[in-house]
Amino acid sequence: MKKEVKVLAPGTVANLVCGFDVLGLCLHEPNDIMEVKLLDKREVIIHSADGYPLPSDPTQNTAGAPLIEMINELNKNIGFEITIHKKIKPGSGLGSSAASAAGATVAANHLLGNIFSNQDLVRFAMYGEKVASGVKHADNVAPCIYGGVTLIRSIHPLDIVSIPCPDLFVTIVHPQIEVRTADARQILRKEVLLKDAIRQWGNIAGLVAGFMQNDLDLIGRSLEDVIIEPVRSILIPGFDAVKSKCKEAGALGGGISGSGPSIFMLSKDKATAEIVEKVMKDIYDNIGLPYYTYVTTINKSGVTIID
Ligand code: HSE
Repeated sequence: MKKEVKVLAPGTVANLVCGFDVLGLCLHEPNDIMEVKLLDKREVIIHSADGYPLPSDPTQNTAGAPLIEMINELNKNIGFEITIHKKIKPGSGLGSSAASAAGATVAANHLLGNIFSNQDLVRFAMYGEKVASGVKHADNVAPCIYGGVTLIRSIHPLDIVSIPCPDLFVTIVHPQIEVRTADARQILRKEVLLKDAIRQWGNIAGLVAGFMQNDLDLIGRSLEDVIIEPVRSILIPGFDAVKSKCKEAGALGGGISGSGPSIFMLSKDKATAEIVEKVMKDIYDNIGLPYYTYVTTINKSGVTIID
């Protein structure tokens, strides 16, 4: 049996604007690279390859915690040594913690002869999200493992649905500020008005139908969030300008990626996605805030074994 594997663990966009904690999509860029070795001793060892300050205690590491759960469930004398090349910046809103958790579970499963289903892997990977944000949510780990767009209809019991979607382009701007998911959840109101809930679930259903029917206008109309975005967007300088100017430039729509500060926009083709990138750059150049941008596409494969 193979003793060592290398995986590409992709970034993800959680929420997809209207679907807080229930919708997410997988990206072709950015990616973490992870090497995982099977050990014959019950332990999990974590290394950060590029000196990035990741927790070395496996119980506090988003890649370590899921594998501890996996080993405990198997109740065998096995362990894993994980080396993480962290390219997706923690606190970016691009599913950094989820990439570590999902990458570790897919790699470990591969070394064990693929004994677990993708749903099992999401169940383990959610322990990583609990370490990162204090709450189990699957809208990053599910798309990271399944690829494409996923709906998490329920986490108790786990019910994940892959949603077919058109080959859209995704433009992302990551302004260089850090927003911790735990903080971005803390500031949310615990109650919503019925009129807002009605608007929100109309949008979620519209977005899913738009993806499935290849209806780009419906996708654009449904990328609206009346509950979370008004609260969280105040943490992101330039958010309103990015949103309105990117739509004027031809983007279908978009909003906060996960809990931010990254902002994503969907476009029907590469040319539009690149115009949208230019709009984002101009806004942050004017504000004077450093940023990274990505023009990428929806990754329909999820975590990939590369060696
Ligand atoms: N659904 C989560 C949130 C995603 O918005 O808090 C965090 O990446």
